[in-house]
Amino acid sequence: MMKINEFKKVFDNASKELFNSLELINILNETIRYSYFSGGKRLRPWIIYNIGRYYNVEEEKLFKIGFAIEILHTASLIHDDLPAIDNSDYRRGNRTSHKEFGEWRAILTGDLGFILPYKIFYDNKLSKLYGFFSETVIKLIEGETLDVAFEKKLIVPSDKQILDMYEKKTSALFEFSFAFASLLKDNQNDFEILKNTGKSFGLAFQIYDDLKDLHGTFDEVGKDLSNDENKYTLLKIMNQDKAKKYADSLFDESILSLSKLKMNFLVDELINIKSLIERK
Ligand code: IPE
Ligand code: IPE
Ligand code: MG
Ligand code: MG
Ligand code: MG
Repeated sequence: MMKINEFKKVFDNASKELFNSLELINILNETIRYSYFSGGKRLRPWIIYNIGRYYNVEEEKLFKIGFAIEILHTASLIHDDLPAIDNSDYRRGNRTSHKEFGEWRAILTGDLGFILPYKIFYDNKLSKLYGFFSETVIKLIEGETLDVAFEKKLIVPSDKQILDMYEKKTSALFEFSFAFASLLKDNQNDFEILKNTGKSFGLAFQIYDDLKDLHGTFDEVGKDLSNDENKYTLLKIMNQDKAKKYADSLFDESILSLSKLKMNFLVDELINIKSLIERK
């Protein structure tokens, strides 16, 4: 078990080695590393590592799964920031990929990041994750599509549809991060519980993110603020206090199910880092 700050250092060092082994052409190597190493909490790889250790998955495999998921996450952010999607200029405290390298490189680097995880899984005898991982990526793309479709008023969403969009664009990756190890170990019972944990955690996470779009400072969040003006976020249908309380209850729900599974270390640490992810 490892605290997140300590984990981040070890994981970033491991990631450097793993990038070298991919032997990408320079132009892609430069772009993907620029975004990958420009900051980021490494929350998903950290969950993967700690849950994976709990299920006795080898440490080396966990770094590779974390690396794969962080690459996908980074790619989804590169595409999310593009002018045609959220049109953001800053990410992780730095200029976004398309601002730094041009749209063509940002698009192609994002494409790369959606397929690299499959190669990493294949090379490490983790193809068992293909099914669950594909479902995760499809949900992420569906969620991003709904987000923009709502913004463009192609669909006027109900409350339920807004939450469905959040579950897809944000919870899906957390569902994978919480549940992959129980899948590797064929523990169907825990798999269902942990997917639900990831769902609640991801919803809380997205609502906190929406609140930070309104209240955060650039130093804190490292991305464009008030970027959600034309978006259908939960804050369009709930006042901020109510949304904050709702996010807190979802966060508590996810903590409770981890306690029931006796994942005490993760519970304590998640409570400690809650300040990192919630509205300041
Ligand atoms: C940002 O995720 C995208 C959302 C789902 C809101 P993170 O807040 O985990 O971003 P990084 O990885 O720390 O930059
Ligand atoms: C989450 O939505 C992004 C993805 C799931 C790719 P946002 O658009 O709110 O994320 P930020 O605020 O740009 O990080
Ligand atoms: Mg977006
Ligand atoms: Mg965005
Ligand atoms: Mg946001």
